[in-house]
Amino acid sequence: MYSPELINRLKEVSTPFYYYDVDVLKKSLETALKASSKYSYHIHYAIKANANPRILEIIKDYGFGADCVSGNEVTTAVEFGFPAESIAFAGVGKTDREINTAIDADISAFHVESVAELEVINELAGLKNKVVNVALRLNPNVDAKTHEYITTGLSENKFGINPWELDGLVAKLPSFENLNMIGIHFHIGSQILDMTVFEELAKKVNSLMDWFEEKGIKLPYINLGGGLGVDYENTDNLISDFESYFKSINDHLEQREGQSIHFELGRSLVGTCGDLISKVLYIKNGLEKNFVIADAGMTDLIRPALYKSSHKVENLTSDGVEEKYDVVGPVCESSDTFGKNLSLPLTKRGDLLVIKTAGAYGQVMASKYNLRDIAKEYYSDEI
Ligand code: LLP
Repeated sequence: MYSPELINRLKEVSTPFYYYDVDVLKKSLETALKASSKYSYHIHYAIKANANPRILEIIKDYGFGADCVSGNEVTTAVEFGFPAESIAFAGVGKTDREINTAIDADISAFHVESVAELEVINELAGLKNKVVNVALRLNPNVDAKTHEYITTGLSENKFGINPWELDGLVAKLPSFENLNMIGIHFHIGSQILDMTVFEELAKKVNSLMDWFEEKGIKLPYINLGGGLGVDYENTDNLISDFESYFKSINDHLEQREGQSIHFELGRSLVGTCGDLISKVLYIKNGLEKNFVIADAGMTDLIRPALYKSSHKVENLTSDGVEEKYDVVGPVCESSDTFGKNLSLPLTKRGDLLVIKTAGAYGQVMASKYNLRDIAKEYYSDEI
């Protein structure tokens, strides 16, 4: 990926910055589409993973729908040309303004997370004399076996409607004159690599579909959310295992006639196409090993500080003997650390570092803490 010519060009750019490989993005999108189309599954891109204009344009051009979690994401999806009938809107705390934005945009479905929210959407749609599509986001109590901060499908989490609320909710449905209940939605967590988790989800969905059927409620729309992970360790694996993912769902989900099956993938589509590029500011003597102080920090990529996640770090401009370093950023927090005890070739001031697999939940989670600048982005076909 990083040829000597490319490294020379990158050296000219002011650091830190994000570098996106358009070919990797396209390959990832093509692979996902090929694997999903086998079963006629629909993929909505989870905009929250990366909302850069170029990335949105490319993904839209491939025909993906959009999955949004804020009114601004809905507006962005519409602006970038995602068809309204492919835009879904989830989130536990939709404001009235956001709900109105989405009603006005005629999106395909609200993924509703509570009875109280159903009441508000019904009321707001009524004021506009509209009937809007809603799908119930259910909490299936399936352990995603991932970091606790990105686990969303357990009963203890704030997400989704719990099974014990369903009887009461279903009894109320006929009174919501401005809602059209089209189906059910799930999202159990992110960075999931164990396919048995998705199998368990599919089985839970089967029994919930039975439950609704017994009540005579049709569910033409089933949305299984996102969550497929990427390989942060072996960064040669640039494309997620979409084949196994969709197959494990297809093998276990008992799809009913007339049902369309939807997914909301974020990380697996964009995670591997982006890296964070940083320059070494200083080498500082530590107690047992040296610190590499980079000019990128937790304000550019917060994942290591927030989830103790590790992104592979490589030195693009040294081939010296390997040494152990702690690679840290300049921000006034000890959690501003990209990795401890990392092996890097002898590293010096001015070396160019690449912090890999940062295409998802990287740039989009940047902050101005310490009043630092927001890192810009460059694309492989522009630089
Ligand atoms: N659908 C819903 C309702 C979601 O909340 C999410 C992600 C997705 C789909 C997409 O999930 P994915 O396919 O990307 O796993 N900032 C964290 C990840 C947070 C994920 C939030 N929800 C991280 O950096 O690991």
